[in-house]
Amino acid sequence: MQAFEFYSPTNIIFGPGTEQQAGAQAAAWGASRVLVVYGGQSAVKSGLLDRVLTSLTEKGLTYETLGGVKPNPRLSLVREGLKKALDFGADFLLAVGGGSVIDTAKAIADGAANPELDIWEDIWLRRVPLEKALPVGVVLTIPAAGSESSHSSVLTRDDTLEKRGFSTDLHRPRFAIMNPELTFTLPPYQVSCGIVDIMMHTMDRYFNPITTNELTDEISLGLLRTVVRNGRLALEHPGDYQAMSELMWAGSLSHNGLTGLGALMDFATHQLGHELSARFDAAHGATLSAMWGSWARYCLDVNPARFARFGQQVWGLDSTGKTEQEQALAAIEATEDYFRSIGMPTCIRELLGSVQSAQVLEMLTVGCTFHGQRTIGSFRVLGHEDILAIYNLANH
Ligand code: NZQ
Ligand code: ZN
Repeated sequence: MQAFEFYSPTNIIFGPGTEQQAGAQAAAWGASRVLVVYGGQSAVKSGLLDRVLTSLTEKGLTYETLGGVKPNPRLSLVREGLKKALDFGADFLLAVGGGSVIDTAKAIADGAANPELDIWEDIWLRRVPLEKALPVGVVLTIPAAGSESSHSSVLTRDDTLEKRGFSTDLHRPRFAIMNPELTFTLPPYQVSCGIVDIMMHTMDRYFNPITTNELTDEISLGLLRTVVRNGRLALEHPGDYQAMSELMWAGSLSHNGLTGLGALMDFATHQLGHELSARFDAAHGATLSAMWGSWARYCLDVNPARFARFGQQVWGLDSTGKTEQEQALAAIEATEDYFRSIGMPTCIRELLGSVQSAQVLEMLTVGCTFHGQRTIGSFRVLGHEDILAIYNLANH
């Protein structure tokens, strides 16, 4: 086990009706003027937004709202929200939604505490170290990105279509309210995208070069089994509170750092997927399922035993009479079978409707390396040629 620091300060408030505590929680964390951020229509239609705003008023808090956040959130709306936050004098950001809404709120919180800095040029590209940010609270409506407890925020720049994450512990939300009932209005496609994302936050940590992390590995494998089982149940029985509870809690634990303690992060599949989201506005979870199998086949020789263990413990595969290589391939196939069974793509054609030209694959590769400035991954470190080879493998 490598030396590590584990910092997961978010106060989790979990259960039915907990959204009514939003005002009390924000007040307890020192809020007086709250900018409430939400997405397209779901929180308005369900009445959730009204309930949250009422809870703020009941605690004597003043608020302003910013709606219209879209999946794969854009820098332009962050800039608009930042202006609103500064004009209003916001001292707290409350995100009511999923990863896109939370990430938008986190970015506004960065900008509002540092109005002299440019969000993209200075903060996102890390030209100036960030020393402060406004506090953020969350009312979560979808188990998926894990942003409610993570230190990350991921934005897409409108003009260049660069999708980039920025991570700092200043992003960790002060509180996250999680009522699984709020997820019952989710379309099945979004539930499936969430299942994949939660799995991938765990697998992008489990597949790493450090293999001496017994407890961390067991937590990861147990979390994956739980998500696989309850993901099926949640899709088969919409409105299943128990299944959605398990998914929601797994979503937070999969991305608060717990499943990667004492290890290195890989996250290559995430980086491969981000380019597809950026260029084609594809749903984040779907880009991950489309790329993972190709990443896995390209990288499995690094440590087939790790794939074999994953196959035995997550998919219950029988190892009798099989080499580690055969077990590894069977584990990859079982994972892709599961993705397909929940309606998720496992290649670029299934994701985008057609295969892509060599020129597009090259463009994705260049984007993924930040124009030759970086490699991705740690399980196997991947440069330009590797990334292009993986996009080619997935291009069917
Ligand atoms: O905008 P509305 O109308 O709310 O619709 C949303 C949106 O269309 C809908 N939705 C959410 N809750 C709903 C609902 N519809 C009905 N009922 C509800 N209760 O779901 C759609 C997707 O929402 P979004 O917030 O985009 O989903 P998700 O949580 O999957 O977030 C994806 C974004 O998070 C980033 C991704 O890259 C992507 O941009 N990520 C953020 C991370 C982080 N900050 O730690 C880590 C992740 O790896 C990921 O990169
Ligand atoms: Zn993700």
